[in-house]
Amino acid sequence: MKRDIKRIAVLTSGGDAPGMNAAIRAVVRTATYNDLHVYGIMEGYKGMINGNLVRLENKDVANTILRGGTILKTARCEEFKTAEGRQKAYDSLVAFDIDAVVVIGGNGTYTGAYYFSREFNMPFIGLPGTIDNDIYGTDFTIGYDTAINTAVEAVDKIRDTASSHNRLFFIEVMGRHAGFIALETGIASGAAATFLPETDWGIDELLSMLKKAAIRKKLFNIVIVAEGNKNGDANELARLVHENLDSYETRVTTIGHLQRGGSPTASDRVLASRLGYEAVNSLMKGVENKALGIVNDKLHKVDFWDAIHKKKELNQEMLQMLEVLAM
Ligand code: F6P
Repeated sequence: MKRDIKRIAVLTSGGDAPGMNAAIRAVVRTATYNDLHVYGIMEGYKGMINGNLVRLENKDVANTILRGGTILKTARCEEFKTAEGRQKAYDSLVAFDIDAVVVIGGNGTYTGAYYFSREFNMPFIGLPGTIDNDIYGTDFTIGYDTAINTAVEAVDKIRDTASSHNRLFFIEVMGRHAGFIALETGIASGAAATFLPETDWGIDELLSMLKKAAIRKKLFNIVIVAEGNKNGDANELARLVHENLDSYETRVTTIGHLQRGGSPTASDRVLASRLGYEAVNSLMKGVENKALGIVNDKLHKVDFWDAIHKKKELNQEMLQMLEVLAM
């Protein structure tokens, strides 16, 4: 029998991502439109354990669509990994009469939702919120588009100084174990080379490419380094080039958490709004324990288990193109 959903809780968990606020706003506005009440859980699963819930009304999410970060704050919570922690969290939800929960985050967030929804009779819906774009079941995650635009803007600026000084820059981007940010940043910034966790392209190939470039007197260049690649971080790669080729003057920039902040792009705002809206509609239709995404411009639902365990692959055609265009 379909449940009567009257009160929804929403949280953000794991690394923040631009667009999370747009998703929260869409959950609140869609729920309010349908006469449901919404509670925001502060600091992710930590707030669920501690009973830190606040009522959210339409006015509370006004002017948030353009703001980076998350108005609900976020945390990585070890206690939620324990059965005792999850029991406390369930007790808090019961105390606030919550009928369903929308979680916005990445793999760790979905893992928490998976275990919780096996143990307790409480429907969860997951929305993919991470700059890494490494979630199976959606073409893009909330925050990814903003992060690559931030990274490309940074690389464009570095290119000016790299070219003026004839320097070779190693620029490290985030992405944890996945190369989505690096791949698109590499293509969009016209990098000479891109180190990715998913390919075998390594230091030998880079050295051979740089030797040929040096013969052509091309001494300035940009190399994008995904943080999860197998060859070492940007400092290590710069050191290896310095040791093997004396013609290059190297510098290193790690873009770091700059990629996590800032006002979301229009694409991220639209994606987050669509997913927040669909989260509430799905719960009202009786959908339970699914991770939502958009695939080929259509709403897509997968089990939390698949979202956590199935690997989202990089686009192979884009990988080939990256190599061709970099030459
Ligand atoms: O998952 C998002 C992310 O920014 C990754 O790209 C990065 O590896 C990690 O989080 C950094 O985590 P923290 O903010 O805890 O340093």
